[in-house]
Amino acid sequence: MSHLVAPSMLSADFANLKKDIDMVNASEADWFHLDVMDGMFVPNISYGFPVIKLIKKYAEKPLDVHLMIVDPDRYIERFREAGADWISVHYETCPHLHRSMQLIRSTGAKAGVVLNPHSPVSLLKDIVEDADYVLIMSVNPGYGGQRFIENTYGKIIQLKNLILEKDTDTLIEVDGGVTLENFKKLTEAGADILVAGNTVFSSDDPAKTIKQLKMQS
Ligand code: DX5
Ligand code: ZN
Repeated sequence: MSHLVAPSMLSADFANLKKDIDMVNASEADWFHLDVMDGMFVPNISYGFPVIKLIKKYAEKPLDVHLMIVDPDRYIERFREAGADWISVHYETCPHLHRSMQLIRSTGAKAGVVLNPHSPVSLLKDIVEDADYVLIMSVNPGYGGQRFIENTYGKIIQLKNLILEKDTDTLIEVDGGVTLENFKKLTEAGADILVAGNTVFSSDDPAKTIKQLKMQS
């Protein structure tokens, strides 16, 4: 499958959100990536249900909701009701990950596990088959526009090997510091979904940048 591109709306212009939603709709982007931060698990607070509902109202593409919140199980159903199609939770916030994956899937959404940069891929050995996707963080979560962490390539390769070993069809997403310079190396390593915030929204021509990020290597 050719890789997907998911612009992160964290870097959108919130005073003109509809304009940026329309831009993503009209572009070659595949998903909307929505970052929910609680000021507890990560040192930043972003947005919640009202903004997600508003984006859902106008979005013509799936919503990929990345939960950077403590004890996310409490809110899975509400994020689904707000319009989430894909929901990911951090390994670091879930003591019962199988239960979290089942809960997400029971709502009809696809379920993902996210790994912080310091968490090794080996932690996923007994959960990878139960997830529809794994999100490898390539920055420390909390902010857009940070610098890409180089050991991400190796983690993607390790994860791809684990997925092949388990003979499962789990997708690999990468999030943080994705640029026009590094995206090809990421897809070559095995990434299926590229999240890009700053690279897309700081561009003079965001739709063109999305088109460039969609190019095959
Ligand atoms: C960071 C978020 C990312 C962020 C990516 O915690 O999970 O989705 O918006 O932004 P860039 O692409 O600017 O690093
Ligand atoms: Zn994210």
